[in-house]
Amino acid sequence: MKIPFSPPYIDDDIKREVMDTLESGWITSGPKVLALEKLVAEQTGLTHVACCNSATSGLMLLLHWYGVTRGDEVIIPAYTYAATALVVMHLGAVPVLVDSGDDFNLDVGKIREKITSRTKVIIPVDIAGWPCAYHALFDLVNAPEVKSKFTPTTENQRRLGRVMVLSDAAHSLGARYANKPIGVWGDFSVFSFHAVKNVTTAEGGAMCINLPAPFDSLEVYKQLKLWSLNGQTKDALAKTNGAGWKYDIIYPGFKMNMPDICAAIGLAQLRKYPNHLLPERKKIFDQYVDFFRAHVWAELPPGDTPHRASSAHLFALRVRGISEGQRDEMIVKITQAGVSVNVHFQPLPLLTVFRTRGYRMEDYPVAYDSYAREISLPIYPGLTAEQVHLVVTSVVDAYNDVASVTVR
Ligand SMILES: Cc1ncc(COP(=O)(O)O)c(C=O)c1O
Repeated sequence: MKIPFSPPYIDDDIKREVMDTLESGWITSGPKVLALEKLVAEQTGLTHVACCNSATSGLMLLLHWYGVTRGDEVIIPAYTYAATALVVMHLGAVPVLVDSGDDFNLDVGKIREKITSRTKVIIPVDIAGWPCAYHALFDLVNAPEVKSKFTPTTENQRRLGRVMVLSDAAHSLGARYANKPIGVWGDFSVFSFHAVKNVTTAEGGAMCINLPAPFDSLEVYKQLKLWSLNGQTKDALAKTNGAGWKYDIIYPGFKMNMPDICAAIGLAQLRKYPNHLLPERKKIFDQYVDFFRAHVWAELPPGDTPHRASSAHLFALRVRGISEGQRDEMIVKITQAGVSVNVHFQPLPLLTVFRTRGYRMEDYPVAYDSYAREISLPIYPGLTAEQVHLVVTSVVDAYNDVASVTVR
């Protein structure tokens, strides 16, 4: 038996929605994208959500919307996927890294010392689908001594009047914090619909708009849609409307729009996400918890509390008392048993592009420790009890082979 790490969920309803799009005569941005935006908005309780072609694009577009540019600083976790940092660098700004807490997410208590008059944005990342401490984050950006450092240089910065919180919610569609869905916690939140995410469009993302007054969500939505389609006043569908062919380009925009053929996959998945696909994931999560709880060497990922609920995007197991090398050996053995696992994430300073720019792993010891002992197990709807059994026994066997001798 071979167990893949994260195959996409494809059923007949998804195939039907895709066929419907193919047969409709319209495959790029059009009615399916609008329907997906509406459904994400409904499920998160927002008025406006704008889809785009990846979370990376969405994050970059929103930093650009806030006027982030050369000389600015953006605070991000050291423990995340590289895209969180690359979007900052694409705009000429500097990613300022913060170490993690013991729940993988950035340690909000370590942010204050990193804030300078150049700080424009904080990008918290809900690692593995576990929500960040949003109350503490907003207390921080609204604290008088933090606000007084803020030096706005664009109209949007002046209107918000503080460091913006741009939630990288790539993993956390369906998660909840303080009884509200993720999507309504950042000033903006960006979901990823990449192929391995809880809901996929193959590639895609959604920008959730949650700005306080005096911003107008509809106005911001229209602007983001325009900027993600070359700054063009009419999308391709509107232009096909006979005599209405004429358009203008009113902003040097980007090409980041989501096609309908992709939206169709996500639309059919999202319809069954809250009541079927998400509970299925959580069931597997709970099965792993029940099993590993009995093993003292197994450090469980954070689990739901009345205040926070994970989207169970990853099951990030940490093994107590092992080295990075032993973790790697365990992965080889688990893989030999037919189970595909993964590591989330290599902290940014371990990657060449960051190391060569002067970021040092020693400065983020908690992130390193989490990474060095971490193994992500398969978690997705459709994993059978037999498969879950193979996963857990392969992990235990690998631990007994590799680690127990030195740890006990
Ligand atoms: C934490 C995090 N942020 C951003 C991204 C980028 O998402 P996308 O592939 O949709 O651009 C990913 C992708 O895996 C991610 O894990």
